[in-house]
Amino acid sequence: MVTINVVVVGAGYVGLVTGLCFAKLGHSVACVDVDESKIKALRQGQVPFYEPGLVELLGEQVQEGRISFHTTFPEPTDAAMAVVAVGTPPTPTGSADLTSVFMAVDGLARALPHGAVVAIKSTVPVGTASKLKERLAAQGRPDLRVASVPEFLREGQAIQDVFRPYRMIFGVMDEATEQMLRTVHEGLDAPVVVTDTATAEMIKYASNAFLATKISFINEIANICDRVGADVTQVAYGMGLDPRIGPSYLRAGLGYGGSCFPKDTRALVNIAGEAGYDFQLLRAVVEVNQRQRLEPVRRLKESFGTLAGRVITLLGVAFKPGTDDVRESPAIDLYVALMAEGAVVRMCDPVVRRVRGWISGASKILDVCNDPYLVLAGADAAVVVTEWPEFVALDWRRVARFMRCPVVFDGRNVLKPDEMKMAGVVLLSVGRGC
Ligand code: UGA
Repeated sequence: MVTINVVVVGAGYVGLVTGLCFAKLGHSVACVDVDESKIKALRQGQVPFYEPGLVELLGEQVQEGRISFHTTFPEPTDAAMAVVAVGTPPTPTGSADLTSVFMAVDGLARALPHGAVVAIKSTVPVGTASKLKERLAAQGRPDLRVASVPEFLREGQAIQDVFRPYRMIFGVMDEATEQMLRTVHEGLDAPVVVTDTATAEMIKYASNAFLATKISFINEIANICDRVGADVTQVAYGMGLDPRIGPSYLRAGLGYGGSCFPKDTRALVNIAGEAGYDFQLLRAVVEVNQRQRLEPVRRLKESFGTLAGRVITLLGVAFKPGTDDVRESPAIDLYVALMAEGAVVRMCDPVVRRVRGWISGASKILDVCNDPYLVLAGADAAVVVTEWPEFVALDWRRVARFMRCPVVFDGRNVLKPDEMKMAGVVLLSVGRGC
């Protein structure tokens, strides 16, 4: 096995997990991030976000001496490969903000040795790798090779996804780069697809957009199921047994959240628009998703008439279980919409402690309780926003007794209608006819 010195720029979610993966594969990794507190924490073996198994992997690799953390580039470095894994947050128009990518690449232009590979893992608009190649040439570094190596890991399952990926996409401009990428990824057993860089960049967007489309599609089917008396969970099961459709990403609910699907779907609509194409289907996917997250407001208004003065508990603030990430979580939009209806809203999550929300035009820090029984006591209704197992396992008989009205909107279809009925809960759900 050949040991490669790798610099990873950005010790966020993708950067840290990727860096640790390369370290575990036996390479020597230097992780760089401008955030001093993050680097300090990582040096002490602390992971600044919640991800199962990551603290242990970090401890192991720090102990082995295969990963180190820095706030500035080791200049010059002997790294034969650099990975750019900085954030590309959405601009107000929905396109990706590339400021951090440019800063990272400019830094690498000063630091990397002749012929090194700059692998872009950040999700960037199609054509960015080519532009970065030109940018490097303009800075006197035409020798540096640019590659697009998109990342497909899911939060909450990052370690499994990074060590057992479904596929690896190497977007390259020459064979030497492909060879370097193959060497660095040696030990990972997954199909490799070698393409040009624009195709690799598109594979990332198209994959996320397709999964988002499946989710909005099943949510639309769920809404119809509710109106015609069918059960969406069985519809999805019946559909998913056809291998051409597949069972995954067909869970109806409150729609997709997180830092990726919402951002990437909007960005792809923009990319298409800038290329003179109206991506109608994806625009509809985004719209459906936005509407779907507010479905509980509509259904609870149907039940209560008005929500003014009603106490409503949101069970779950993280955008999905297994993470403390609240970016684009339906819980925040729901909180704001329910407050606008005059409801009193309480929030509960097993790992999220507080969250920032825009209330009446001002940014406010909202407290999140970790004890579901506490926030359910005296509530008029509850909404399961995130399918944490902790919520499924609640003693619902006890909950039904101490809620003012035991109305529960199961926004993720994880509660069993029969059991809820036995417990005395009035269950509302997405596409299950109740
Ligand atoms: C997603 C992709 O799955 C990863 O492959 C990709 O690498 C990542 O974005 C990224 O671009 O970085 P992630 O955002 O961690 O990963 O979350 P997912 O597990 O895919 O879930 C996304 C959202 O879809 C969640 O809000 C989840 O609740 C929702 N979802 C998922 C549904 O509503 N229904 C489903 O059937 C599946």
